[in-house]
Amino acid sequence: MKFFLDTANLAEIKRINELGLVDGVTTNPTIIAQENRDFETVIKEICALVDGPVSAEVVSLETEGMVKEAQELVRWATNVVVKIPMTEAGLKAVHQLSKLGIKTNVTLIFTVAQGLMAAKAGATYISPFLGRLDDIGMESLLLIQSLRQVLDNYGYQTEIIAASIRNLTHVEKVAEAGTDIATIPGTLFPKLWSHPLTDLGITRFMKDWEAFQNN
Ligand code: E4P
Repeated sequence: MKFFLDTANLAEIKRINELGLVDGVTTNPTIIAQENRDFETVIKEICALVDGPVSAEVVSLETEGMVKEAQELVRWATNVVVKIPMTEAGLKAVHQLSKLGIKTNVTLIFTVAQGLMAAKAGATYISPFLGRLDDIGMESLLLIQSLRQVLDNYGYQTEIIAASIRNLTHVEKVAEAGTDIATIPGTLFPKLWSHPLTDLGITRFMKDWEAFQNN
């Protein structure tokens, strides 16, 4: 399973990348806005830090604008993947971009049908959103399980990025469901290697060791 970081914060990316755990990065307009820095500069810096794919999202809503933006975005670095919203115009753009050899990540996927349409149009990645489905009382994990099954049924090479991940259970469950990738917020990522009993265990071992030394 691959782990992407769902952030544009350079400090978060550096910290986790130094552990060898970062296979890629995803951003969206909200994430970029949170950094309050120039979009192009931030994407170029992330691309220089991380070896894997870095998703940068278009903001045009029409196919022509999306394709134009995509062609500009991929000039910024060789590992840029163009994030395209799941709309009719987006599917048309994905189809055109796949013919140009430009990698795409179709975002805001909430149904199996949307995932299938994006894969069929030529998406490199699809991003089903778990947390936002949970927010409206839907079973988000079923979406990952079903997408895994239908993509495998027909041999699509499109990779599933489980997105809108909000907690550790999401990460563990999407791994069980066979997602290719989980994209995880920088603030959540450290919880993947932490447990209070680990910390407590270390404290107790150190205390016992110190007592033994002073015997
Ligand atoms: C990633 O590609 C998505 O843009 C992101 O995971 C959305 O997360 P959110 O629903 O927590 O905003």
